[in-house]
Amino acid sequence: MQAKTLFSSLFLLIFLFFPSISSSAPTPAKKIKSYKPCKRLVFYFHDIVYDGENANNATAAIVGAPRWANTTKMAGLNHFGDVVVFDDPITLDNNLHSTPVGRAQGFYLYDKKDIFTAWLGFSFVFNSTEHKGSLNFAGADPLMNKTRDISVIGGTGDFFMARGIATLMTDAFEGEVYFRLRVDIKLYECW
Ligand SMILES: *[C@@H]1O[C@H](CO)[C@@H](O)[C@H](O)[C@H]1NC(C)=O
Ligand SMILES: *[C@@H]1O[C@H](CO)[C@@H](O)[C@H](O)[C@H]1NC(C)=O
Ligand SMILES: *[C@@H]1O[C@H](CO)[C@@H](O)[C@H](O)[C@H]1NC(C)=O
Ligand SMILES: *[C@@H]1O[C@H](CO)[C@@H](O)[C@H](O)[C@H]1NC(C)=O
Repeated sequence: MQAKTLFSSLFLLIFLFFPSISSSAPTPAKKIKSYKPCKRLVFYFHDIVYDGENANNATAAIVGAPRWANTTKMAGLNHFGDVVVFDDPITLDNNLHSTPVGRAQGFYLYDKKDIFTAWLGFSFVFNSTEHKGSLNFAGADPLMNKTRDISVIGGTGDFFMARGIATLMTDAFEGEVYFRLRVDIKLYECW
């Protein structure tokens, strides 16, 4: 009788202090969450950088440059230190001359010497029959990657309290003067 009690208390003791013995089941594989966007939108925007001669057509200007460069030409060393302000037309297709549905307004700055990479902070400002309001974006843009994800950090109007991810893709570029970005916006918070 007594031996049996002793045995069971020993048993209990072992399992109390070494719970790992009892949980022999394998830990489940990390759950891969697949979120579904509540809204998805695709736009293009067109950036024409001032190059000293295109003042009428330019939609972007270098407003800050390192001491070893100037604001009419992108700096060497992967444009490191250049700060560009833009007011670019947003279109539904990849044609620069399509009727814009809004403006992409903000800045980008190049922040790495040994590779092309930028940091973006801008808004999509909509004032069309389809969309009214704004979406705000921020994030790192490693330009050499085919696609880059930046954050949709908020919105106003039709996009009140929106949050999500925008996948950027360089759709075209011409030298250092023109580039076109495709923006695939996936919102995971919609009101
Ligand atoms: C402005 O853009 C138009 C259309 O792309 C082009 O035909 C014209 O040559 C450009 N003008 C300048 C000054 O770059
Ligand atoms: C700006 O820098 C470029 C390249 O370094 C040079 O060719 C150009 O003359 C400079 N322009 C001005 C206005 O200083
Ligand atoms: C939006 O567009 C309307 C009609 O074209 C115009 O009256 C209004 O001023 C615009 N609002 C903004 C903020 O641009
Ligand atoms: C960009 O591409 C590089 C090299 O292919 C990769 O190491 C890096 O993780 C990528 N960055 C992002 C943000 O996708």
